[in-house]
Amino acid sequence: MRKIDIFDTTLRDGEQSAGINLNTAEKIEIARQLERLGVTIIEAGFPASSPGDLDAVQKIASTVKNSIVTGLARCVQSDIDAAWEALKGAEQPHVHVFLATSPIHMEYKLKKSPDQVVEQAIEAVKYAKKFFPLVEWSAEDGFRSDRDFLVRIIEQVIQAGATTINVPDTVGYASPQEYGELFRFLRENVRGADRVKFSAHCHDDLGMAVANSIAAMENGADQIECTINGIGERAGNAALEEIAVALHIRNDFYPVETGINLKEIKRTSQLVSRLTGSLIQPNKAVVGKNAFAHESGIHQDGVLKHKETYEIISPALIGEGEVPLVLGKHSGRAAFRDRAVKMGYELSDEKLNKAFQEFKKLADRKKEITEDDLITLLTEQQVSI
Ligand code: KIV
Ligand code: ZN
Repeated sequence: MRKIDIFDTTLRDGEQSAGINLNTAEKIEIARQLERLGVTIIEAGFPASSPGDLDAVQKIASTVKNSIVTGLARCVQSDIDAAWEALKGAEQPHVHVFLATSPIHMEYKLKKSPDQVVEQAIEAVKYAKKFFPLVEWSAEDGFRSDRDFLVRIIEQVIQAGATTINVPDTVGYASPQEYGELFRFLRENVRGADRVKFSAHCHDDLGMAVANSIAAMENGADQIECTINGIGERAGNAALEEIAVALHIRNDFYPVETGINLKEIKRTSQLVSRLTGSLIQPNKAVVGKNAFAHESGIHQDGVLKHKETYEIISPALIGEGEVPLVLGKHSGRAAFRDRAVKMGYELSDEKLNKAFQEFKKLADRKKEITEDDLITLLTEQQVSI
């Protein structure tokens, strides 16, 4: 089956989320969990950005053995030197160099002509290749770049020795169809494209990062860059857990494998949330608190009869324990009885009817009914265990 590499950038782009700051020990703990999760590449940081980041990348590179460890560098020698200092002890030294290629970035941020940008990219990749066998080159703001210019610069960096070409949607502007088409165009028009891996890197400003990543994969991308819980700059990056689970559940439609150990997803998500202090929205796909919480009576009755009536992902798939049905004002008699019986109560039909009426009254006053509420209610209704 076709293999899609998962490049995890939780510790680099994810750490670029406002308010997140991980120390070395925390970064190592997350990196070890990412290794257990089975990601192909861990982007452990940006070694030139601070001595602390260099130290963290160095320690992760000497600890992690089953995933490739990389670090980010601008296309400047001092950044690549810092990356080599951090990564020379890695099993398979890999560096990720980037340079912006869109007209707006070249003119206003870099203040360089397109020719100067091509020159700088070639020099940086050649320099990186003196140390690193694996060199990923990223066209920052690639999606908003001129396509012919992209072809030109990508061909040059491939000749200079790049082994992976990443074309990010840095500002989350792409639609799935457009982003997919861009990958198809590059695969078909770049000389030397068959010698390298293509990579997708999507931001979620318009809420399309996961869909865009999958569209890129369908059109020739071999690698997807993403973060746990989708943390990252502004609205974040494509969420690793959503991509991995979507590709697994819809394997009929996407016949690919990622190598992700799905059972480690919940644990990884919780660890990243705890150490970054970044809370997970309750309705977040796959890992949100409500991702498997059935509230309405009709849905609850359905899942009690057959789980797959309303559940396309089993919580066990991602390493989550059994999720009890929610007891609230939309809950039906079936869920109420199910919980009471699981708690050990014996209910005749008559007692069930009476207790259920009281439960509904209580549910109108309270958002969620706890087991303690149920004990009080059932005791008042003289229902015994
Ligand atoms: O979003 C982006 O363009 C990046 C690059 C550094 C790859 O994070
Ligand atoms: Zn990014």
